[in-house]
Amino acid sequence: MSRSWNRRRSDRVVIGLLAAVALLVPVGWLWASSLVPDSYSVMGMGHAELGGGPEGGHSAHALGWDGPPPNPGDVAVTELTGPRRGSPDVDVTLVARRETVTLTTGETVEGFALNGSSPGPLIRARQGDLVQVTLVNESVEGGTTLHWHGVDVPNAEDGVAGVTQDAVPPGGRHVYRFLAEDPGTYWYHSHQVSHEQVRGGLYGVLVVDPADVSAHDEVEVVAPVHTYGSLPTVAGATGESRIDVEPGTPVRVRVVNTDDGPLRTQPVGSPYRVLAVDGRDLVDPGPVTDASVQIPAGGRADLGLVTPPDGSAVRVQLGGEAAPSLVLGPRGATAPPAVTVGPPVDLLSYGAPALLGFDPEAADRSFEYSIGRRPGFVDGRPGLHWSINGRLFPDVPMYVVDEGDVVRMTVENHSGELHPMHLHGHHAAVLARNGVPASGSPWWVDTLDVASGDSYEIAFVADNPGIWSDHCHKLPHAAEGLVAHLAYEGVHTPFRIGGAAGNEPE
Ligand code: C2O
Ligand code: CU
Repeated sequence: MSRSWNRRRSDRVVIGLLAAVALLVPVGWLWASSLVPDSYSVMGMGHAELGGGPEGGHSAHALGWDGPPPNPGDVAVTELTGPRRGSPDVDVTLVARRETVTLTTGETVEGFALNGSSPGPLIRARQGDLVQVTLVNESVEGGTTLHWHGVDVPNAEDGVAGVTQDAVPPGGRHVYRFLAEDPGTYWYHSHQVSHEQVRGGLYGVLVVDPADVSAHDEVEVVAPVHTYGSLPTVAGATGESRIDVEPGTPVRVRVVNTDDGPLRTQPVGSPYRVLAVDGRDLVDPGPVTDASVQIPAGGRADLGLVTPPDGSAVRVQLGGEAAPSLVLGPRGATAPPAVTVGPPVDLLSYGAPALLGFDPEAADRSFEYSIGRRPGFVDGRPGLHWSINGRLFPDVPMYVVDEGDVVRMTVENHSGELHPMHLHGHHAAVLARNGVPASGSPWWVDTLDVASGDSYEIAFVADNPGIWSDHCHKLPHAAEGLVAHLAYEGVHTPFRIGGAAGNEPE
């Protein structure tokens, strides 16, 4: 072996080592900067986006994981409560337990129950009622909470562990109080380890009736759709559920999608109308036949139909041919067989236009929520992760607004998968999809399916101060990091993700 050969070999080793270091240092830096501490404030994570608005306290917010100290005069989310005084019109106690749940059709599933059942009890309020719900955690390990999905409650009542409260530990309790201001179909669910607790059954339906009851004289069917393990159900029952309704009777079916994927629902045997979406009535909804309604994960739709005068039944399909369905008609009436549901009604052009009540062209802030997918590290895990505006969790946006701002947001998706995007505390109007302006009824959403390749323009008024989650409602995606926040200037949260309470909202 010659000396020069040895030298060449050692040169190669050195060059190889240098190359390895040159590669490992940035990769190591990316890895290290992706790590999420055991305890942190959402006020300190990621980066502020101002959307063209003024700089304020929040713009300096990425001062490490604690966030900036509150400014004098700032409000804590704990102060943004519903009415603390006054006796409630609706007073419910919900006891959460880890339990073997027996479905109404007899099957048993390992999961969670509220007052011994899943779904939990239907909570019903009249518009203007003061609602009080006492959550008692008997045996949900790691704690639990209740989030009022679609109800634009004051921030302290929003039920997001680590953002608006601490998770309620076993043996603990928490009281929620809020005014039921907007009639409609809503639901409640845990927002602590929600991707497991909701799937496991920790949810129920909340219906707010209009103050004027005469506006509401139909037969009503409340239809939360949920899959327990591999068992698809409606209102806790598998298969076909029959509901006796006289011929010629108007019926309102409140469909709630509590699952992680989109639900296509369609009444067969009668035309129908989409009366409301996400708790907001549509204006002049026209009759629909041979078409479905696509309800995003977390979303709701109220379907209106009249049972046929000839005494036949209507089948409301809640998914494909093998999915559960409702059969509405006189006792013993035959219903048409299940079909392959039709294409979804395009809510962008359904119903008649009407005023939104604010001018989305006069926006104070304009944001982008662009969902992609790219390789990198999230909390030290290498992989192909969801990105928001090109960056990976925990480097997610904090969208900063002032109270009273008109806010526009472009929500676009180029990630290869559908994402049902859910903004807490607000309803947003859909203005356009892929450049095509909305031409139908005002379409207000709290949860919007954004398919890969689509771009939606939405707008809302920032009229509910707080720190609000804005995440994908395919809950495992949120747990994977598809979550951002909307923060009002001058509001801060004393709660922490992780920490002593073990808060883990997603
Ligand atoms: Cu239905 Cu953030 O949740
Ligand atoms: Cu998603």
